[in-house]
Amino acid sequence: MEAPATFRDEVAERFGVLPNFFCSAKAAPGLIERLWDFAKSAYLDNPLPSLFKERLFVHLSRFCVVRYCIVRHVGFLVGHGRPAGDGSVEPETVDKVIALLRRPVPASEVLEAALGRLSARTVIEPIPAPRTEFEHDLFDALTVLFLAPLAPGHVREAVRTAVGETNLEFLLGFMAFIRAAHYWTETHSDLTYEADMLALMEQHPELGELLLDPAEAEQTRGAIERARVIATLRKREEQFQSVVGALQHNLQVQEAEAAELGRYRLLVNAVTDYAIYMLDANGRITSWNPGARRLKGYEEAEILGQHFSRFYIDEDRAARLPTRVLATAAKDGRFEGEGWRVRKDGSRFWANVIIDPIRNPAGELVGYAKITRDLTERHDAQLSLERTREALFQSQKMEAVGQLTGGIAHDFNNLLTAIIGSLEIARRRATDASVIRLIDNALRGAERGSSLTHRMLVFARRQELNFQPVDIVALVPGMAELLERSLGPSMRVETRFPLGLPWVNTDSNQLEMALLNLAVNARDAMPQGGPIVIAARPETVALAHGRLQPGEYVCLSLTDAGEGMDEDTLARAIDPFFTTKETGKGTGLGLPMVHGLAEHSGGQLILRSQKGRGTTAELWLPVAKKTEEATEAEAPAQVPAKEHRRLIVLVVDDDPLVLTNMAAMLDDVGHKIFEASSAREALAILRRESGIQLVITDQAMPHMTGLQLIEEMKDNWPDLPVILATGFAELPPGTDLRQITLAKPFRQHDLAFAVETAMTTPDARRILRFRVPAR
Ligand SMILES: Nc1ncnc2c1ncn2[C@@H]1O[C@H](COP(=O)(O)OP(=O)(O)OP(=O)(O)O)[C@@H](O)[C@H]1O
Ligand SMILES: [Mg+2]
Repeated sequence: MEAPATFRDEVAERFGVLPNFFCSAKAAPGLIERLWDFAKSAYLDNPLPSLFKERLFVHLSRFCVVRYCIVRHVGFLVGHGRPAGDGSVEPETVDKVIALLRRPVPASEVLEAALGRLSARTVIEPIPAPRTEFEHDLFDALTVLFLAPLAPGHVREAVRTAVGETNLEFLLGFMAFIRAAHYWTETHSDLTYEADMLALMEQHPELGELLLDPAEAEQTRGAIERARVIATLRKREEQFQSVVGALQHNLQVQEAEAAELGRYRLLVNAVTDYAIYMLDANGRITSWNPGARRLKGYEEAEILGQHFSRFYIDEDRAARLPTRVLATAAKDGRFEGEGWRVRKDGSRFWANVIIDPIRNPAGELVGYAKITRDLTERHDAQLSLERTREALFQSQKMEAVGQLTGGIAHDFNNLLTAIIGSLEIARRRATDASVIRLIDNALRGAERGSSLTHRMLVFARRQELNFQPVDIVALVPGMAELLERSLGPSMRVETRFPLGLPWVNTDSNQLEMALLNLAVNARDAMPQGGPIVIAARPETVALAHGRLQPGEYVCLSLTDAGEGMDEDTLARAIDPFFTTKETGKGTGLGLPMVHGLAEHSGGQLILRSQKGRGTTAELWLPVAKKTEEATEAEAPAQVPAKEHRRLIVLVVDDDPLVLTNMAAMLDDVGHKIFEASSAREALAILRRESGIQLVITDQAMPHMTGLQLIEEMKDNWPDLPVILATGFAELPPGTDLRQITLAKPFRQHDLAFAVETAMTTPDARRILRFRVPAR
């Protein structure tokens, strides 16, 4: 059982250290306290000088079986703790302590001499100074008394003589305590030397050897050694611990980083839609993910270490874009952009690129992280969407304008039909030459109006086209006279056609009109005159392109060396009513007419022009099928005009103006006329009047159309000839167009021609084509 804390505090306070002596675990309850009481009175409170007491303690400790006492008190002597509680005493040096310890136990004659000297002392000098003969003598005498308390009385007498009665008693009490302490230490073998004493002996090995017997010295050296080793080990362990601690911390950080890195790798490697890779500060690739492999086609092994500029297209590389991109990222902390990049196989893709600079903790640039996405599909989709929108907008616009134009042209046609018809009759009846001149003038104006409506109708695709195989090689030279007349003498027209150019499927009259429109544009673009080249070449369209479906075409082109068009004009040239010509000079309907014809024929008009570099208008027309070529010979334009006959004709039109005019024209040449303002009325007249030989009917009428009327007539009047007069393509799709059609506006001779054809054709069901005169 250990001494209570308060007791131990008291001891420690008194000695300046807590000697192991007072720490014995084996102490019987209360015994150590009693020993402490004894120590206080016999040792600490003993009035003998402290230094003397300690020297004597050390001197006598040599006779203790256990060396603990001597070691501890040498400690007190040299200043470890407070020797005997007297702080004023200077500690002894190690040398002096050694000298003290080396004094041999006195031989009997030495002792006798000492006792003699003590007994001879006349002056009582109670306690001797250290290392004096007196002290030596006294120590020798006290040694005897210590070892053999019942020693011969003269030893005790000699001491009493030298130090006096009182001091003798103090000395005997003191020595009793030393003996008690020795007993104590002898019964407590677990007492070990305090650390400060081990250190002292380590510093002074000779002291150690002196204080300890050889075996104990050996043991102690072992202990000292052990202590030293332990101390060293501890120190090392501490260092080790701190190193281990630091290592562990690093390890934890590294593990966390590794885990983080692992997760990051997993993520990066799982991503296949994005190319994620790193560059060093110079732009060389240092990492590569599966997304990058998929996107760019390079394996990791072949791309690591390469410069990332190889992904750029040549133009961008030449413009040093890769370098600028990295500089931007480094400066602004990020770069984001889109552009073309090149895969390993040389193919291009539209990329979205993000570059982030990577800096070390010191803020130095160490590289870049780069993420690339393939947006080609989106880009293409966007472009085609824009193109589609543009095309849709364009076609909607054309459609709207076409509707409008077609509507106006329809009404205009009826007016012109009436005007022309009436003028012609008036001209025949007029006798005054000046009136005839005026009527001719009016007729020319009406003709121009008619030509205009015609263009409008072609553009609006409401002009019924007479499709047939057309031989361009024959058609163009046939226009020579017309062109010369229209263009004037300063224009040179060259033609360049290859041998064996296939025929095209279109309306030959309209094609002539289209060429004339293009030629007039060319002339207007070359006020000083110049060459116009009309050429044609066969073309094959493999993939649908623009409005052209895959197939065989002939590209008929007309090229001038005129002023050309700037981009803006070129973009708008085909728009109806767009013209750059002076008011009154241009209608802006020339190109729309050509465009309308091309589209209606299943082809396309393509304009190529640059300001100051001339213009080429290409008219792409589909090649005619063989069977269509074969029917060409059927063209009935050459139906001979037979001699005039008088007929009973039923005229049907909802427009009274047209009706009256038509009736007047027919009446003028001697026919007998019935007028009906609707199909119903016509049927009623047919039922009522026998002898009607011909029906001429308008197509567009309310309630019942011309075609419906024809259908109604099939049963009761199957052989009655009918002429369908129509201003534009208002016939429903799929209509059998083999009946005679008369294009509005028509002139008297057109009408006469149609009547003659209808009446002379052997096939009563009018399997004839009526060739509309060109305008
Ligand atoms: N060969 C060409 N060279 C230069 N510009 C041209 C040529 N052809 C057409 N253009 C331009 O396109 C515009 C439209 O032509 P378009 O034939 O449709 O009408 P226009 O020639 O102005 O009138 P119109 O044909 O009724 O006389 C012209 O006004 C002109 O600006
Ligand atoms: Mg024109």
